[in-house]
Amino acid sequence: MQDPLVYLNGSMTPLSEARIPVLDRGFIFGDGVYEVIPIYGRKLFRAEHHLARLFRSLAKISIPNPHDKEQWLALIQDVIDAHPADDQMVYIHVTRGVAKRGHAFPKEALTPTVFIMTNPLVLPSAALRASGVPCVSMEDQRWLHCEIKSISLLGNVLAAQNAAEHGVVEAIQFRDGWLTEASSSNVWIVKHGKLMAPPKDNLILEGIRYRLIEELCAAGGIPFEARKIAREEVFAADEVLLSSATKEVLPVVSIDGKTIGNGEPGPIYKQLYEAYQAAKAAQAA
Ligand code: PDD
Repeated sequence: MQDPLVYLNGSMTPLSEARIPVLDRGFIFGDGVYEVIPIYGRKLFRAEHHLARLFRSLAKISIPNPHDKEQWLALIQDVIDAHPADDQMVYIHVTRGVAKRGHAFPKEALTPTVFIMTNPLVLPSAALRASGVPCVSMEDQRWLHCEIKSISLLGNVLAAQNAAEHGVVEAIQFRDGWLTEASSSNVWIVKHGKLMAPPKDNLILEGIRYRLIEELCAAGGIPFEARKIAREEVFAADEVLLSSATKEVLPVVSIDGKTIGNGEPGPIYKQLYEAYQAAKAAQAA
C-alpha cells in the first residue's frame, strides 16, 4: 500500500500527511512508549496482553492513559480495517505530548500524542526457519529500565546496527556476563531438553511471547525455568531461540561464528514453532 491511512490524535489520515509539532516530547526527549501487535487473519493476537503491557509502560512513566481498553481496540480496528493485508503488524506510539522544552514533566496537564499505523506482517521465510539464523553477541549498553517499552531506543538501535553490519539477524546482549535479550527479541536457551530464559525483571522487556511460550511449554510438557543465564551457558546450549511479534520463534544456529548445538534448528524449537502456529489458528477460529 502506497500511502496507508494511519490514526493520529483523533483522525485517520494518509501516512504522508501525518504531522506532529516539533516540540512533541517524543521528538525532543524520546518521552513516550510504544507497542507492536501482530494481526493474523485481520484479528489481533494476544490483544489483552499487549494492551496490558502498553498500560504498564504508560503508568511506569506517568503518562495518563488517554483511552480505555474498548476505545483502544476500536482505534486499532479502524487502522486494521483501512489496510488490505490479512496479516499485519500494528504499531502504537504514545508520547507525553507537546510542551516548551524542559527535561522534567511540564506542570500543566498535557494531551498525550497518539499515533497508530499498520504494515503487512513480514515473517521470517521458510528458508530462514529451516536453516536457522546467525547472531552476534555484545555487551548490553542500554539503561536499567528495559521492562518499559520506551520509544527511547538508541541502545537497541545501535545493537541492531551492530547485527546488520555483521550481516546477521540479531545481536544477543550480555550485561556483566549474564544474558539479557537481543536488540528487539527475547532470547531462550535449551539444555538437556529444558528451556530457560532470563527472569522477567528490569533488564529485559517482557515479550508478549514470553508468557505465551511459558504456556506452550506447560501444555507441551517442556520443562521451563526462568533464571540468570551465564554467557558460557548460551554458547554451550543445545539450542538458542529468539522470540518476538515479528519473528514468532526463530532458531539461532551460531553466535559470533561459533556453532550452537549441532548447527541446526533443534527439537524444542520445532515443537514450540508448531505449538505457536496452533495458538494462532486457535485464536483465529
Ligand atoms: N520488539 N525485547 C525487546 C527489546 C523488543 O523490542 C521486543 C519486541 C521483544 C519481544 O517482545 P514481543 O514478544 O512482545 O514482540 C523483546 C518489537 C517487535 C519491536 O520493537 O518492533
